Amino acid sequence: MKKRVTKAIFPVAGLGTRFLPATKSVPKEIMTLVDRPLIQYAIDEARAAGIRDFIFVTSRGKSALEDYFDHAPELENALRKKGKTELLEALKATNMDSGAIAYIRQHKALGLGHAVWCARRLLSDEPFAVILPDDVIAAEVPCLQQMVEAHAETGGNMVAAMEVPAEKTSAYGVLDIKEDMGSVVSVKGMVEKPALGTAPSNLAVIGRYILTPEIMDNLHKIKSGAGGEVQLTDAIALEIEQSDNVYGYRFRGQRFDCGSKAGFLQATVAFGMARPDLKDEFTEFLVDLMSSRAAAQ
Ligand code: G1P
Repeated sequence: MKKRVTKAIFPVAGLGTRFLPATKSVPKEIMTLVDRPLIQYAIDEARAAGIRDFIFVTSRGKSALEDYFDHAPELENALRKKGKTELLEALKATNMDSGAIAYIRQHKALGLGHAVWCARRLLSDEPFAVILPDDVIAAEVPCLQQMVEAHAETGGNMVAAMEVPAEKTSAYGVLDIKEDMGSVVSVKGMVEKPALGTAPSNLAVIGRYILTPEIMDNLHKIKSGAGGEVQLTDAIALEIEQSDNVYGYRFRGQRFDCGSKAGFLQATVAFGMARPDLKDEFTEFLVDLMSSRAAAQ
C-alpha cells in the first residue's frame, strides 16, 4: 500500500525584499490577499489535501507568523459577547490543533533546498509535501489535492508544473520531459533557472512538491547551484539519476506569483472579484475605472 502524505513543509524564511518597506516589520507571508494572509491560503490548501502536520521553516523576524496561528481567546470572547458570529467563525477557522505546527529556524539564507533540509529531523519514512506560499493557486480542486490524487497512481516524486513563455523560463526550475502523458509527465532532467535560450522545455516548476525521503539525503550531498544557493531542483534532479521516479503534474487552476508586486496585485483583483460579498461592488468599480481610462485616451 502507498503511504499517505500527511506532512508538509512551508519554507517561510525569505526576507521578502521585493516588498520593502512593508516587509521591514511584516513577514511577506502575513501580507493579505483581500482579508486573509498569504500563509492562510497555503494552509487551507494543505488541509484540503489531507495534511495534518505543518512544518514552518522560519528565520529571524518571523514571529508574527507564530502569533497568527495561535488561539486568540480574548478576541474570541469579545466577538462572542458582541454576537459577531461570522467573524468568530472566520477567526476559529485559523485555529490549529495543539502540536500540529512545528517551527524550525533556517539560520542562514542558503537557499530553498537548504530550507527544506532544515526540516529533515521532523520527517519520517514517508513522502512529504512542500508548499511555497508565494505561489497562490486558485482552483476548483485545490492544487495539492489534485497532486495527492495523481501521486497515488505514480508514487515517487512529483512537482507541480505549468507552461510559461520561453523568455520567462530563466526564472524557474524547468523540466526536461521524458514522456508526456497529458496531466502527468515523466521527467528525465530538471534545471534551475536555465540561461536564456537553454531551457529544455517551457514546462516550469511551480511551488508544490510531493517528495520522497531520499530527497533529504540528496540535499545533504549536493553542492550549491544556481545563484550560489542549495537548490531543491538539483536534489530532485539527482533522484532522476538514482531512481528515475520524478513526475511533473500540470494542475488545473490559475497560479499567481505573489512573490512579485504585479502578481500580488493580480491575485488581489482576481480573489476580490471571486468573493461573493465583494464581487458586485468591486467589479463595477473596475469596469468604471477601465472605461474612464479608455475615454481619457
Ligand atoms: C523557486 C524554485 C523554482 C520554482 C519557483 C516557483 O524559485 O527554486 O524551481 O520554479 O520557486 O515559484 P524562486 O521563485 O524562489 O526563485
